Amino acid sequence: MEKLTYGTYESTLERSRKLEEDLTKNPANYRVLTGDRPTGRLHIGHLFGSLQNRVRLQNLGVNTFIVIADYQVLTDRDSFEAISDNIRHLTIDYLAAGIDPEGANTFIFPHSHVPELNQLLLPFLTLVTMSELDRNPTVKEEIQAAGLKRINAGMYTYPVHQAADILFCKGNVVPVGKDQLPHLELTRVIARRFNERFAAQKSVFPEPQPLLSKSPLILGLDGSQKMSKSRNNAIMLCSTEDETAALIKKAKTDADRVITYDPENRPEVSNLLMLLSLSTGKTPETLAEEIGEGGSGTLKKALTESLNEYLRPLRKRRAELEQNPDYITQVLTKGIAGARKIAVETLDEVLDVMNMKI
Ligand code: TRP
Repeated sequence: MEKLTYGTYESTLERSRKLEEDLTKNPANYRVLTGDRPTGRLHIGHLFGSLQNRVRLQNLGVNTFIVIADYQVLTDRDSFEAISDNIRHLTIDYLAAGIDPEGANTFIFPHSHVPELNQLLLPFLTLVTMSELDRNPTVKEEIQAAGLKRINAGMYTYPVHQAADILFCKGNVVPVGKDQLPHLELTRVIARRFNERFAAQKSVFPEPQPLLSKSPLILGLDGSQKMSKSRNNAIMLCSTEDETAALIKKAKTDADRVITYDPENRPEVSNLLMLLSLSTGKTPETLAEEIGEGGSGTLKKALTESLNEYLRPLRKRRAELEQNPDYITQVLTKGIAGARKIAVETLDEVLDVMNMKI
């Protein structure tokens, strides 16, 4: 069996750049698969980090599948009561950000509703070894971060499930952050091993490529770690303008009065400048120069105004969608039907090459 290796980050970045170029030229050759766990509502880190990129790809005309990974929620937490509510709110956030489920090329679906996708997990599990699953760095980090004492087998195997999420629709582009690269490498190995073992004459699965995000990492308002709802340092898409103002007011800065853009030495102030840059279109350097002696008070005031203004249309759409639960059901039903049609075809092909047809 060919070894599972993780290439260097630089080589992945270089390939990702080439992919980006070709995507713009030949969007019809690509099928994008991305996804999220339904663990809560989305914040501006998600918006600037991944949602806007998905919308951009969709608008290039690339087929877009967005999987809501509800089964993954069960891997590292006890609570499941909120899953259904979170699925709906995730969908609302997607639509408010510009994902267009009316188009023929976009599908949003929870994977629990696509049985043929889930069934791919069974043959895929036979293509990886226990020690490969045990070595996955992202899984190890998640186990640590969640402080799990009793680790369920779903935790070790969800990256294989993720391969089923991607390969059921023969997705060939997966926009990812760095932490998801080990999972994608596993998916590529599974595709390769499946083709080698069962489909030597014709390849059933493509090897999906990672598309690394070009947008900067958005830190939380404490300036020290990634923005995240659970760390209480996030501005949610669903926050009100007053809540947004209060959060920015409390944001951490430093003792230096003059505003400069220096992400290395002044991460808190630089992160606020980056957010201001994302909501105004000006560079953080220019903004720092403009604010200068005005200090953090001026910076915060500018950010509050610009960000609230920037988010206003999105929040308005969001509020309208919240009033229309039937529409959200309709969107998910359409997404599930579209995903299922493809999953049935893929499973049929898979059973065929595995000699399991009767
Ligand atoms: N593991 C991803 C996360 O935690 C979510 C996810 C599930 C996903 N299936 C996927 C991402 C398939 C990309 C492709 O964010």
